[in-house]
Formats: sequence, C-alpha cells, structure tokens
Amino acid sequence: MSDLDVGGSEAPSTARTDAEAWWRTAVIYQIYPRSFADADGDGVGDLPGITDRLPALAELGVDAVWLSPIMVSPQRDAGYDVADYRDVDPRFGTIDDLDRLVARAHELGIRVILDLVPNHSSDQHAWFREALAAAPGSAARARYLFRDGRGRDGDLPPNNWQSVFGGPAWTRIVEADGRPGQWYLHLFDASQPDFDWTNPEVREEFLDILRFWLDRGVDGFRIDVAHGMAKADGLPDYHPPADADSMGGDEEDVPYWGQPAVHEVYRQWRALVDGYDGDRALCAEAWLPTAERTALWVREDELHQAFNFPYLMAPWDADVLRETITESLRAFGAVGAPATWVLSNHDVVRHASRLAIDFDNPQGHGIGPGTPRRPDRALGLRRARAATTVMLALPGSAYLYQGEELGLPEAIDLPDAARQDPTWFRSGGERYGRDGCRVPIPWEADAPAFGFSPTGASWLPQPADWSALARDRQRADPDSTLSLYRTLLRQRRERGLARGRFDWVDLGPDALAFRNGAVTVVANLGTAPLPLPGGRVVLASGPLEGDRLPADTAVWLEPESIG
Ligand code: NOJ
Repeated sequence: MSDLDVGGSEAPSTARTDAEAWWRTAVIYQIYPRSFADADGDGVGDLPGITDRLPALAELGVDAVWLSPIMVSPQRDAGYDVADYRDVDPRFGTIDDLDRLVARAHELGIRVILDLVPNHSSDQHAWFREALAAAPGSAARARYLFRDGRGRDGDLPPNNWQSVFGGPAWTRIVEADGRPGQWYLHLFDASQPDFDWTNPEVREEFLDILRFWLDRGVDGFRIDVAHGMAKADGLPDYHPPADADSMGGDEEDVPYWGQPAVHEVYRQWRALVDGYDGDRALCAEAWLPTAERTALWVREDELHQAFNFPYLMAPWDADVLRETITESLRAFGAVGAPATWVLSNHDVVRHASRLAIDFDNPQGHGIGPGTPRRPDRALGLRRARAATTVMLALPGSAYLYQGEELGLPEAIDLPDAARQDPTWFRSGGERYGRDGCRVPIPWEADAPAFGFSPTGASWLPQPADWSALARDRQRADPDSTLSLYRTLLRQRRERGLARGRFDWVDLGPDALAFRNGAVTVVANLGTAPLPLPGGRVVLASGPLEGDRLPADTAVWLEPESIG
C-alpha cells in the first residue's frame, strides 16, 4: 500500500498562491454546442438553446461548462476552423446571446470556458485570404507556414508530414499569376492552415483575442492543440513508428508535437490571465504520451490544467489504471498542479462503448457499420458507470462530456451520407472518425428530435432507441445513469474528495481499490465477484451481490461508524 500526498487541506504539496482556486477541484462539463440544444429549430444547436437548458446542468451539479468552438467558422471541422476570432458564428447566435449565456450561467453558479484554436485558422480567415493573394516571402505569407516544394518543379511537399485526419499535411496553392506555387502546412484539414508561431504578429494577435473574451467576462479557455503550435526548426521529415497514434505520437521527438518553444507562449498567456480578477483558467488540450510530459504544460507559470489523455486512453485493466493514476498524481503533483481526469470528449469513441471494444481501434478511427465487431452495449454501460464512479472519487478536477451522464453509447449506424467529420473524407471513408460521439443528445423521450430541437431537425440522425435514454426518462429513476452521476457529484462535493488524501489499498490484482479520506473505493476489473471489505455502501455503479462486488462494478464505502 502506498501513500500519495496530492495537495489539499490536509497535506498541501504546494505553496502556490492559487492553492484555493476553483479549478483545482472543479467538475467541468463539455458542451458541444451544435449537439446540445437547438432553440431555433434548424437542426444545429445554438447558444439560446444552451442558455435554456443550463438549469439541467445546475441540477446535475457541475462547476463549469466548456463550450467547444462558437467563433465564426465555415464549420469544415465543426468550428475548429476559425475565420473570425472576435465574433460568434451566426449558426450559434450572436455575441449578445453569449453575454446572456454567461450571465445566466453565473447566476446559477456555473463558470463558462471557451475553446480557443491557436494552432491554425480557417482558410477563410482574412489573414489566410491575404496570404494567398500576396507574394512568396511577403509579410502576409509569414503568418502561416508557406514553403517552396521539393523536387525539380517544386511539385513535392516540403516534407513528409501527414495530417492527423489522413493524407499529406501540405497543400499546394495556385499563385496569383495562375501558376502552381508554394505549399502551406496544415496538421489537420486542408481548410485549417497552421500559423507560424515564431512570428511576433501572431503572438500579439492571440494576446489581443484573449483580452477580447476575458474582458467580456468568460472564465477561461480550453486551448486546442496546445502541444502543436511550435514546430522544429527547419521542419525536418518525420518517420513515425508503425503503431504511432495520429493525435499525439508516442515518440519523444515528433517535430510538430510538444516542441519546447511552445512554453514561452503560455508563459505570456499566463501573465496576461493573472492580470484579471476572478481566477480565470487555461486548460491545455495536449495529446502527449505520458503524464510526466503533460505536466510540463502546467508548471506554475504556464497553464492551469491539462487534460489527462493517458488516463482517457488507458484500457479497462486494473494494472494499467493503477499505474496511470499513480503516475498522474505524482507528475501533476510534482509541479503543484491538480491532476485532471477525463473519459470522453468529442474526439473519442464514447466510453460507454469504448470500454467494451475488444479489437484494435486506433484513436480517431471511430466505429461504424463496417467495424468488425460491435462493442457489447450492456457490458460497455456497466464498465462506463464503474469507470466514472472511480474517476469522480479521484482527487483533482474532472471533465465530463455531454451525454455521458445519460450513458449514451457511440452512434454506430450513421449513414455514410450523414457523416461530416473531415477524417471520413480525408481517409476516403477508411476511418469513420468522430461523428458517432457527436450526435445531438436526447432530452425528452416523446418530443421531436428527443427535445433537441423543436422542429425535429438534427444535423446528425439520432438512434431511435435513444428515447429510452432521454433525460426526462432518467430523472425520476434512482437507478439511472443520470441519477448515478448526480449522486456522485453531490457526494464528491460533500466529502471534499477533490482535495482528499489518496492511498492505494491492496485487494488483489483485479481490484482497483483506494482510499480518499474516509471513503474507500473498490472497482472490480476481473471476471468473478470480489468479496467487499467491510463498510457501509455510500453508492455503487450497479447492483451488488450481497457482500460481493460483481465484475465491472465499482462501489464507495465508508466506515460503519460514520454512517
Ligand atoms: C482537437 C479538437 O478537439 C478536434 O476536434 C479538432 O479536430 C482538432 N483539435 C483540430 O483543431
């Protein structure tokens, strides 16, 4: 049994001035605006829809919401392609709608975090249009990564980098005189040109964009591709190992991920944000292979939080999870940052399906009708409930993705014609991509589009059997996944688990067991029931078998005397 001091009231491991800040313990709920709630009935969710539904999130008990991108965008990558960083996309509403959303959220005690996309813009951004019209070597081109091609006629890309969505990471342009010209870098879709972050004008522009939204009262930002902005000098070729993951790369020296120069940018951002009142927070979306490396993004003078992707990617395996949790608490703790925990988001197969996948399914490939086997739905849900029951007992801050509180599975049977993820198109239909986790969520079982939109329109079709998962069906059912989430969040808060003291407990190889303060958490990742240690059951992710814990089930216990 080992002891880990992870900060907090009993054993602060940090003398940082932000030791009491809200984000150290927050449960942050990710809203995917196009799929949350559609007030105007066009089938795409919007800001007024979100504002109307905020009371449901207050009832759930979250501390903050993070909105995936709402800025002006042609939506080639669902808003992660921004054409104007200082306005709201008309599909989602107006900037006044955002002000109303923030005001209402604050009334309900919920903070609001926006998504900022600094690695690349849309190809419709004024700067990129200007760059296309300007000459090679001009100041307008220097805001992006334009290069001459290789080969005799410059008709080969400047290097061999591949886009995360498939295909080459370079596209050749036609110059103003009509001749084939330079190439520009896009680590994602061709409609998402990468900025050149060595250019001071780019840095100034983003400081100004941060000020623009902070002045409007938002509580922070989730930083998209926070490990990608700096590229290695000279843009050298890269030969990834065969099993490399397209989002993160498992290697230390990927010339476009995790380059050290990016940290200087965040130091500037942190200094700017620290000049504001109200504990504004910045969270890094940095896909890095280890917690040790991720922790570099949350050193005292950098970002406040970073997503714990090693935890999200961990399989349902007690040994791997033990090691991942230990390492997360150690690595984040060593730099005085809170550990964070996350199981689902808009880029990964929903954990109610993912945890039952028993075949190779690389990150970003998704699952669909042609996938060799379907994850067992009941098993996936059982594991998802157990996994969340573990996650919400861990010290630190946790992220939830809309719909996971309803136990939504991945939507597998989307028709090809409905798919919109650029991954699907860039891979020629070889990878399904991420649409299956982005389907509009069900609110009312008997309403059009299950209450998502008043007209029944929905930008991706909703599976018919989601009526059984609608929020109104689950609200009154004490055994529903929604009720479990509400109980978990309430108990987590009441028991101060986010600031608790963490100790592993040894209950055998199949048990993931730990104490957080007075609460003992046990999850059974084996196949046979496990005898439970003594104690009163605070909550359980599924039915118990007397004093035995069935497989794929988790429980919180407390000493009898406290009950
Ligand atoms: C990460 C975002 O979460 C994902 O949805 C997006 O496609 C890429 N970054 C590119 O911005």
